[in-house]
Amino acid sequence: MQIAIDGPASAGKSTIAKIIAAKLNYVYTDTGAMYRAATWLARQNKIDYSDADGIAKLIKQFPISFRVESDKQHVLVAGHDISEDIRQPQISKNVSQVAALASVRDLLVQQQRQIAQENDVVMDGRDIGTTVLPDAQVKIFLVASVQERAHRRYLENKTRGIETSLSTIEDEIAARDYKDSHRQISPLKKASDAIEVDTTKLEINQVVEEILKIIHNKT
Ligand code: C5P
Repeated sequence: MQIAIDGPASAGKSTIAKIIAAKLNYVYTDTGAMYRAATWLARQNKIDYSDADGIAKLIKQFPISFRVESDKQHVLVAGHDISEDIRQPQISKNVSQVAALASVRDLLVQQQRQIAQENDVVMDGRDIGTTVLPDAQVKIFLVASVQERAHRRYLENKTRGIETSLSTIEDEIAARDYKDSHRQISPLKKASDAIEVDTTKLEINQVVEEILKIIHNKT
């Protein structure tokens, strides 16, 4: 069983996907975290964000993995927990550039398909319904106004101890959406058979209810 949840930055994909996966007892895969980990690897090793071969080499050398511990998903690179590091503004600012590189996408998409082959999954990202899992039984495209998304990210950053102004976050989100939707390979796009859910005015539990209904009707 494959459930694909795509959409722009901070539309609530990971929050919703995590809850749905827990309710259905499926594996949750945060593909954005994998591109963030690749960006982190480049930064740590002082490799230019445009150096596709250099970053692909790092991904092969230091494999990216997930581990669930007390209900929280951790992102690991060669066993090192980088879950918090990959949420820092320096990574958010540069991840779209790294995610546009063909050899980086090839490696990570291969790994994502492998996870979906071995498990029932709820996978969130930008290209899951269009490219990674085109045959997913359920495809959701989550959207929300940029103001609402910036506000949510602002609150999330605060709990993480990251101080960024609301307007900076709004600019960063808009810039990232633009880059993600205009890149050549697998741009952010609603799959033709995806169902759009606008979360701007909805509470988390209302979005979950709506998606569970969609899953129920489709399966
Ligand atoms: O989901 P999140 O905002 O953490 O994703 C970070 C970045 O990773 C996105 O802005 C995008 O550039 C990239 N990404 C992608 N394809 C995916 C998931 C994320 O290109 N499937």
